[in-house]
Amino acid sequence: MPAGTTGVAPFFGTMQQDVLRQQLSQFGQEHLIRYWPDLRTDEQFALSRDLLAIDFRQIQQLFAAGEDHTNWSELAERALPPPAVRERTAEQNQHARALGQQTLAAGEVGVILTAGGQGTRLGFDQPKGLFPIGPLSGASLFQILFEKVVAARTRFNVAIPLYVMTSQATHHATEQYLQRNQFFGLPPEDVVIFQQGRMPAVDCSTGQVLLEDRHRVAFSPDGHGGLLEALVRSKAMADMQRRNLARLFYLQVDNPLTPVCDPELLGCHVAAGSEMTTLAIAKQSSRDKLGNIVNIDGRVQIIEYSELNPLADDIVERQDMHGQPVFWAGNTAIHIFEFAFLQRMTEVAEGLPFHIARKPVSSLNDAGILVAPKEPNALKFERFIFDLLPHAEHALVVEGKREAVFAPLKNASGEPFDSPESVRAQMTDFHRDWLRSAGVEISDETAVEISPRFAFDEDELRVRKDLPKRVTHETYLR
Ligand code: UTP
Repeated sequence: MPAGTTGVAPFFGTMQQDVLRQQLSQFGQEHLIRYWPDLRTDEQFALSRDLLAIDFRQIQQLFAAGEDHTNWSELAERALPPPAVRERTAEQNQHARALGQQTLAAGEVGVILTAGGQGTRLGFDQPKGLFPIGPLSGASLFQILFEKVVAARTRFNVAIPLYVMTSQATHHATEQYLQRNQFFGLPPEDVVIFQQGRMPAVDCSTGQVLLEDRHRVAFSPDGHGGLLEALVRSKAMADMQRRNLARLFYLQVDNPLTPVCDPELLGCHVAAGSEMTTLAIAKQSSRDKLGNIVNIDGRVQIIEYSELNPLADDIVERQDMHGQPVFWAGNTAIHIFEFAFLQRMTEVAEGLPFHIARKPVSSLNDAGILVAPKEPNALKFERFIFDLLPHAEHALVVEGKREAVFAPLKNASGEPFDSPESVRAQMTDFHRDWLRSAGVEISDETAVEISPRFAFDEDELRVRKDLPKRVTHETYLR
């Protein structure tokens, strides 16, 4: 049991049931062993293992604290735009790119890919990374993102290790899929797959931990902020140290447009001496559904759109002294971390706040029947990776173009953004633009897709000898 936790000890049989009841009743959780006498020994073992993994005191405190009490209106009124690299001259870009290329070629960069989410909104029956998103190729999110790492390795002729975070919900299927596909060309020794932690879901009104079966607690992943603790526990952090990595490129599995290992972004980060850099996109309106990166009291932090958007116009539309909107910087969830910063942050990992979300969670009702509610019945506890931002001594925001870097897949349909159709359309538009900028003629009606293996970036595309002059029909360049 980790130090400081108050999980119950694993006991079996009738006498032990009394001990369990006594321990659980301190926290009002004795319902969890309601079915104990009917369970087989292996089921009793499974349940006691689940119970052992829970810090009941922590759950009690989180429930008692309730949902967020932050005064968002007061914070939003004090917020300023974050320190940012926005408009850049060709010369500045060139300088940043050269620096980024240097750090890549020196083998100082690793990549972290978080893929532990349950993908509930998408409603796909496998981990989201397996979703076939390539508009013509049908390539999965994993394939596209892995091949971007392959392309960066080839371009800079260097090993770039990839750390993939999964969760109890996604681990097995992800590992099997990646092995079956030979890691899409990455050497297996350079792919480290590790599992994040989990937190139990509790009933919204009583705080009682939910059961998803008579011998199984309803757990969910502990949020992408569970990364730090998972890096340490899985020894992935030690692996990074052994490889002398100086910085990590962080991305999430749902965005196939992520410019993985982008030299310019890395260069801006290095040039500024930043500990944590975030790629931002300019919001189209202040109420865009994107996290707002701001500066409050000299610290960079995020105000989520769900906190900002309900506030009055005179706050949401605020401008700084130069007449620029305060809330312009939308979070893409693409970050660069200094390794030393990540290492330092492992000491505060336990202190990162839990965010509480009301969600529908399937659980056993009083009659012991599994019920899938349509409305939120449960509270889930998650840590967020962006809560590291205010801890950085120097954090930076770099602006990218939405159409070139940001197309996250979130929903099955029904939204103007974030659905498979809209993500595929955005990928096609982006690849068409790439071809045009490399001098290729292509009409707006012609579908095209470029595999990351064909070209790492526009520069590489331009110098390909087999690049067609004109694309007149559906084409997958690979
Ligand atoms: P989201 O917060 O959008 O969650 O994750 P999701 O699982 O993709 O989708 P919903 O909300 O259930 O519909 C953003 C990214 O963070 C990762 C996800 O895999 C995705 O890449 N993530 C999220 C984790 O790795 N672990 C988590 O606990 C949560």
